[in-house]
Amino acid sequence: MELRDEIRKRRTFAIISHPDAGKTTLTEKLLLFGGAIQTAGAVRSNKIRKSTTSDFMEIEKQRGISVSTSVMAFDYNGIRVNILDTPGHKDFAEDTYRTLTAVDSVILVVDSVKGVEEQTRKLMEVCRMRNTPVMVFINKMDREGIPPVDLLDELERELSIAVCPYTWPLGSGRKFGGVYNIQKKEVQIFAPDKTEVSESLLSTKDIHDPRLEEHVGIENLTKLWEDVEFVNEMYEPFNLPLYREGYLAPLFFGSALNNFGVLELLETFLGIAPCPGNVKASGRVVEPAEAKLTGFVFKIHANLDPNHRDRIAFMRICSGRFERNKFYYHVRSGKKLRFTSPASFMANSKSIVEEAFPGDVVGLYDNGNFKIGDTLTEGEDLHFEGIPSFSPEILKEVVNLDPMKTKQLEKGVRQMTDEGVAQLFVQQPGNRKIIGTVGELQYEVIRFRLEHEYGARCSFSHLPYVKACWITTTDKKELERFIARKSGAIAYDKEDNPVFLAESDWMLKLAAEGFPSLTFHRTSDFKTGGSK
Ligand code: G4P
Repeated sequence: MELRDEIRKRRTFAIISHPDAGKTTLTEKLLLFGGAIQTAGAVRSNKIRKSTTSDFMEIEKQRGISVSTSVMAFDYNGIRVNILDTPGHKDFAEDTYRTLTAVDSVILVVDSVKGVEEQTRKLMEVCRMRNTPVMVFINKMDREGIPPVDLLDELERELSIAVCPYTWPLGSGRKFGGVYNIQKKEVQIFAPDKTEVSESLLSTKDIHDPRLEEHVGIENLTKLWEDVEFVNEMYEPFNLPLYREGYLAPLFFGSALNNFGVLELLETFLGIAPCPGNVKASGRVVEPAEAKLTGFVFKIHANLDPNHRDRIAFMRICSGRFERNKFYYHVRSGKKLRFTSPASFMANSKSIVEEAFPGDVVGLYDNGNFKIGDTLTEGEDLHFEGIPSFSPEILKEVVNLDPMKTKQLEKGVRQMTDEGVAQLFVQQPGNRKIIGTVGELQYEVIRFRLEHEYGARCSFSHLPYVKACWITTTDKKELERFIARKSGAIAYDKEDNPVFLAESDWMLKLAAEGFPSLTFHRTSDFKTGGSK
C-alpha cells in the first residue's frame, strides 16, 4: 500500500478525563465495538484501583500496566485506530500531558453529574495550547445529571472552546433511552448491555416515528422535539474545518457503562477525526508523506524487568516508513541505531513489528540512548517542537539519607529525569537538587526506584513553590538584575536555563509586571521556538 494510503487510514488519539469520569470504561467499549476485545473487563481488570495509597506495589503495578495499555491499536472498517493511554491516577504525571503531544486529536470524557472538573481543565489547557481537535463525550447520562443545556454552557465557559451538539440525549437518568443524531437526523434507541456489543433496539430517521413512543414514552419524546428545536436555533451546525483547527468541539451524549452512544461516537470519530498531519520541527514543517522516516520519543518506561536494566522508548512516527533492522540516525547523539525487535501494540498484546507508519507508535528497546523529545531521522538534524517539559506544580528538595551513596543518587536522579519521570532543577549555592513534578505520586516512584535500582536512599523536603517557569529575554542586564533580586527563588534546569520558582500565581504575575522585558514560560517549548 502507498504511504499516503497508510496515512489516510490512521487515527491516533487519546481519551482524556478527570479520574472517574469513565475513561477506562469508554476505552474498553471502543475496543469492544471495534472488535479488538470480545467482552468488557480486559482493560478494567488491569486497572489500578483508585486508592491514594502510595505503597510501592501499587507503583510497580502501575508501571507494568501502563506499558501494556500505553497504546491500544485495532483495525475497524479499514481504519487503524491508535488509542494512546493517558495515565490516569488521582495524581497526575507529566506523562499524561506529554502523551498529548503525540496524538492528532482527543476525546474528552465528562461526567454528566460532575461537569467540568479540575483535571479536565488542565488537560484541555494543553489541547488548546496545541489546537488539538477535541470531541466531547458526556458520560453517565443514565444518572440524573446537570441538564444538557447547562452542561454546554459550562463547557464553553470553563474550557474556552465552542461546542456543537452532535447528538442529543433522549431522556436522562433512569429514563435515558437513546440519542438523536442531530447531524444525521436519526434516532437510536439502545438496549443496555454492559459487557457485550448490543444491537440498537430501534433506529429511525423520523423523529415523529410512533414506535419511539413505545420505547421512551411521550414525555421524553416531546422533550426531545422541544430540545431539538432549541438546539437548531441556538447552535450553528457542525463545521468540520473549525473542529479540525481545534476551535469547535462536537458533543456526544451517552453512557459508556451501558453502551449508549458509544457506536455513534466511534463511527463519527472515524469519519471526522484527522489523520496524521504536519508536525512542526525546528526550521521546517514535516509532512507525513515524506519518504524519509522521522519520529520523536514522547515517553520512556524503565526497568520493565527488574533483572535487566531495559527500557522501552515510545516513538511516534511523524513521516516516512519505519522498518525493523534498518539503521536510523539518533539526532542528539549523532549515533546510528538499529532496532531488532521494535514492538507494536495491538489492543492488549505486544508483538514485534516489521514496519510502521505515520501516526503509529513503536516501542523501542533501549539501554540508555533515549531521552524524552529525542528524534530519529534518516540523517537530517531535526528537532520537533512541542514535546516540552511542563512547568511543574509541586517542587521538593532531595535530601540524601546515605552520604556514602551520593554518586548513585546523582546518577539515579539524572537518569530518571531523562526518562521524564520528573524534572530536575539545581539551585546554588550548595548544589541543592529540586525535583519538580505535576503529581505527588512521582516522588514515591523516585524514592522507590532510587532505593531498588540504584541503592540510594533519599527523602523529600517540601518547598513552598507552586510553579517553576523558564525565563527568557533579549535584555541580559535585566535578567541578571532579576536573578540577583530573586536569587533565593532561582534555579537552573539540566541545560542550565534559569527558572523562576514562584510561590504563587500572584508572585509570578508581580514578577512579570516588575520585569516586563522578561518572559516567563510555562513549558520548555521556548527552546525550540514553540509556544509559551
Ligand atoms: P476513569 O477511567 O475515568 O477513572 O473511570 P472509570 O471508567 O473507571 O469509571 C469510573 C466509575 O464510573 C466506575 O465505577 C464505572 O463503572 C462508572 N461508570 C463509567 N461509565 C458509566 C456510565 O455510563 N454510567 C454509570 N452510572 N457509571 C459509569 P466504579 O464503581 O468505580 O467501578 P466498578 O466497580 O464499576 O468497576
